[in-house]
Amino acid sequence: MQNNPQPLPSRRVFASFLTAGAGMAALAACTPDNTTPSPVAANAASDVPSTSAASSVATPGAATTEPAPVEPAPSSDIPASTAPSHSVAPQHSLTDPASPWVVVNKHRPLAPQDFVPADLVQPGVRLAVSGEAALLNSTTAAAAEKMFDAAAAEGVIMTLASGYRSYSTQVTTYNGYVASTGQAAADRASARPGHSEHQTGWSFDIGDGAGACSFQPCFAEQPAAVWAKANAHKFGFVVRYPWMFHDTTGYFYESWHLRYIGVEAATDMVTRGIATVEEYFGLEAAPDYL
Ligand code: DAL
Ligand code: ZN
Repeated sequence: MQNNPQPLPSRRVFASFLTAGAGMAALAACTPDNTTPSPVAANAASDVPSTSAASSVATPGAATTEPAPVEPAPSSDIPASTAPSHSVAPQHSLTDPASPWVVVNKHRPLAPQDFVPADLVQPGVRLAVSGEAALLNSTTAAAAEKMFDAAAAEGVIMTLASGYRSYSTQVTTYNGYVASTGQAAADRASARPGHSEHQTGWSFDIGDGAGACSFQPCFAEQPAAVWAKANAHKFGFVVRYPWMFHDTTGYFYESWHLRYIGVEAATDMVTRGIATVEEYFGLEAAPDYL
């Protein structure tokens, strides 16, 4: 089930969110497919951002002052009556970083730690970055191209704000957050090295064509974020760190961070009202590092 009632964020939580967000604008970094999960029974194995590989299958920003709730609690998006009663049976490895269903979080580091996707490519989309951050794995890149094109056809311009991140880049990114906001706040906004989905090539951050609010809480209100929240699943993406699910994902809301899991699974999550991949795949919540 997914709608575990979660308390509304306290002012302090919001404050730390904003503080972290402020540091993010300068430091952030996070990439999407066409890999539709095949309904084959799986194998089994278990379990985050830039370029190398491994495997196994499992069974199944700068806010100003006061934090303004950018979105209602998840319950408003997901009617309780449609809440799932159980997770899905894994069709792809949850541990292999090359798998579209790999789940990387504070309890599930990348293995190997220095994983680098073997198929990094630069998608044909509007770029707000260059170098490795403009790369995604090939499946994610193809899906991103379709999504960006579809958004543009509806008048919404998206940019690729941060894609692949190598382990060493994540060291720099995370350390920058810590220096800027302190470790506690950093850990709610940036993954420690070896724990970032950006290293897998399956995740990326989007920006808005107008360039407003990048990596900030107010990004949720920008056209690119609004469009992505409503449509990303059609291209295989989920908003990986949804509003109010930091106790499950370990991170505050990131309306800009999309993760490719395939059209079928992403659509299934939306249809069933499941907000996090942890819940969808029946994995434990990972609010903090072990
Ligand atoms: N901002 C996300 C959690 C990352 O650093 O991968
Ligand atoms: Zn990201």
